[in-house]
Amino acid sequence: MAPGKVSKICCIGAGYVGGPTCAVIALKCPHITVTIVDVNQSRIDAWNDKDFKLPIYEPGLEDVVRGCRGRNLFFSTDVDKGIQEADLIFVSVNTPTKKSGVGAGFAADLNYVELATRRIAAVANSSKIVVEKSTVPCRTAESMRTILESNSKPNCRFDILSNPEFLAEGTAIGDLFKPDRVLIGSLQTPEGKAACDALTEVYANWVSKDRILTVGLWSSELSKLAANAMLAQRISSVNALSAICEATGANIDEVAHAVGFDSRVGPKFLKASVGFGGSCFQKDILNLVYLSESLHLPEVAAYWRQVVEMNEYQKRRFSKTVVDTLFNTITGKHIAVLGFAFKADTGDTRESASITLIRDFLNERANIKIYDPQVPHEQIWFDLAEACPNLPLESIKKSVTICPSALDACNQADALVIATEWKEFKEIDWEAVYTNMNKPAFVFDGRLILDVEKLKKIGFKVTVIGRGNVM
Ligand code: UDX
Ligand code: ADP
Repeated sequence: MAPGKVSKICCIGAGYVGGPTCAVIALKCPHITVTIVDVNQSRIDAWNDKDFKLPIYEPGLEDVVRGCRGRNLFFSTDVDKGIQEADLIFVSVNTPTKKSGVGAGFAADLNYVELATRRIAAVANSSKIVVEKSTVPCRTAESMRTILESNSKPNCRFDILSNPEFLAEGTAIGDLFKPDRVLIGSLQTPEGKAACDALTEVYANWVSKDRILTVGLWSSELSKLAANAMLAQRISSVNALSAICEATGANIDEVAHAVGFDSRVGPKFLKASVGFGGSCFQKDILNLVYLSESLHLPEVAAYWRQVVEMNEYQKRRFSKTVVDTLFNTITGKHIAVLGFAFKADTGDTRESASITLIRDFLNERANIKIYDPQVPHEQIWFDLAEACPNLPLESIKKSVTICPSALDACNQADALVIATEWKEFKEIDWEAVYTNMNKPAFVFDGRLILDVEKLKKIGFKVTVIGRGNVM
């Protein structure tokens, strides 16, 4: 295939990464037909929903899909046809942390990547550029290449690229429209470079070429893990400092602001919180830990593992603060948990700190009322059942209520916990909340979004991460 001639793209996996990424490619490249395929029928049905009730909540996504669905963007469960028709295939399937076997709890489960790759090899009847989009451990591209080459038909050539996605949920469309960088890794052979050029030309339709970085395959794979590990490390660093602030009366927001003013550090990703969540940070760091251990680099493994351990500590510490503050017991008390998603502006709950907090509160036999503006109820029940394997769902449901609004959740509550930084939580009618809560009315701000002085004036007892006693 000649470079720069991609005219049909197939994306395997219609999830949080594949869906928005390839929808934006379709919008920006009207001359390219983009088909997003997935084995999950209900997910594909939702992408094709006539009222655009899409399977994932992402600000701006609906407009993108409205702009090109049916024109050059298609969603289908016909994976084989998608593969056969495309000249470039993104593999964007899930890569969760392994739950059993070698590397359980650390290594990525590459089963889905392998199955998708084997499918490509089985059904492709012309040459393809195969692009690894899912976050994967180093050298996965090598395994994909081996599978493809060992199974290819006489006239089929497969070139593998790594093109990790750096979008963050909640801001995915803005991130895709104006990426800090696009990273493409390829083999440094003439064929590898030609494939790299072909993908570069796709992005060059809207991204300036100086932001498209081309590197070796393994550098690309490692850069994705490294970027996420370093972002998560900033949060764990600031969360570690938040514990010192609480013990000394300093204010973590002031400390982070002062530190971030140093242009070498910069102000972003220094917000203390109840702990980072999301599908990537923990998974990618654990991948890095596993990789380091496999390479006999135990000190390196221990260094990165501590970033995750600090995150676990932060969540534990926060639950304990709630229990301690409510006179050392929350048994039978009512706790309102505002926010279930792992961050604002997404309905995604993967690794959400909220799940850990609610599990801890359930272990203390509290009654919990949850409100989140986007997370579907069945997802909340699924996550809680998974987090509390020793509790049958019926008994979880006896202690947990999902509420239609923040105000409902706070009604008759002894304490209110902000777990996700949804904008609407800043704009709650606090007077009404106070009137309806049991007294003393405790507020725990796990996201540093509330106006503490205002709440204290109303009468709340307020605890904020990273601040000394502000009761
Ligand atoms: C992350 C990376 O940012 C993105 O580049 C990569 O492609 C995927 O992983 P995502 O997990 O979607 O994106 O969201 P992000 O904004 O990074 O937030 C991750 C977690 O960190 C959230 O729970 C968020 O609330 C938390 N966070 C973020 C903080 O606690 N403090 C901060 O300052 C920033
Ligand atoms: P991410 O956040 O990385 O996008 P998701 O779990 O949201 O991950 O999406 C991955 C998608 O990939 C899921 O919808 C899943 O059904 C799909 N998928 C996994 N394996 C295959 C496969 N072999 N063929 C087609 N789709 C697949």
